[in-house]
Amino acid sequence: MPDPTSRLIVALDVPTLSEATDLARRLAPHLAGVKIGSQLFTAEGPRAVHAMHDLGLRVFLDLKFHDIPNTVGGAVAAATSLGVWMLNVHASGGPAMMAAAATGAGGRTLVLGVTVLTSVEEKDLQATLGTVRTLRDHVLHLAREAKAAGLDGVVASPHEIADIRQACGPGFLIVTPGVRPAGAERGDQRRVMTPGEAIRAGADYVVVGRPILAAKDPVEAAQRITDECRLGRAESREPRAE
Ligand code: C5P
Repeated sequence: MPDPTSRLIVALDVPTLSEATDLARRLAPHLAGVKIGSQLFTAEGPRAVHAMHDLGLRVFLDLKFHDIPNTVGGAVAAATSLGVWMLNVHASGGPAMMAAAATGAGGRTLVLGVTVLTSVEEKDLQATLGTVRTLRDHVLHLAREAKAAGLDGVVASPHEIADIRQACGPGFLIVTPGVRPAGAERGDQRRVMTPGEAIRAGADYVVVGRPILAAKDPVEAAQRITDECRLGRAESREPRAE
């Protein structure tokens, strides 16, 4: 069974449901939930969600919807009917799209806005996306828009957690990928922190994929991260969502 006090969501970025189920079953005692992203969902569809529910695990469906409001509202309603715990949309889809997502969820699923991907650096934001704000200001702008549109929280890099917590208050969920235990490979993630640092900065949950999936002993890696999060939470004085 999952651990209700855990702050760790494992990213099941694997190609098949049998690999995902095997991992999830072994890691479950250390997890707050699992994240099913576009790789696994494209390969296996809704049965991947049902398989995790059968293991007693909550599912964060990470499909990062970004389309016209009508389409996103319909996609969110469909995901909500699968009984997922949380899902996400790109906050850069705009206030009307985020409001349609909130309506589609109808309060039955937590809806998070993706601010700026943790693989993006400020020079990419300005050069490729033509954004005039600094990365920090852009993330804060998107987080405020997500809150105003009725979303439950955001997905954001560790380095923006403290600012978002201050701008959006304690009840606003902050879910943080781009987390790397000390000494782990960064991969394509750029703006990284350790799990303990992220929780201390005010994150509610951390999302970790490769440092667990590629570990020699994934169960031990997950347990270490969960323990680090617990310590970070005990040391943190920040109020936050339960
Ligand atoms: O393997 P790694 O720990 O880098 O996995 C991070 C997970 O979080 C991936 O599944 C990725 O899709 C997801 N993610 C992210 N950055 C975001 C939102 C989600 O890295 N802003």
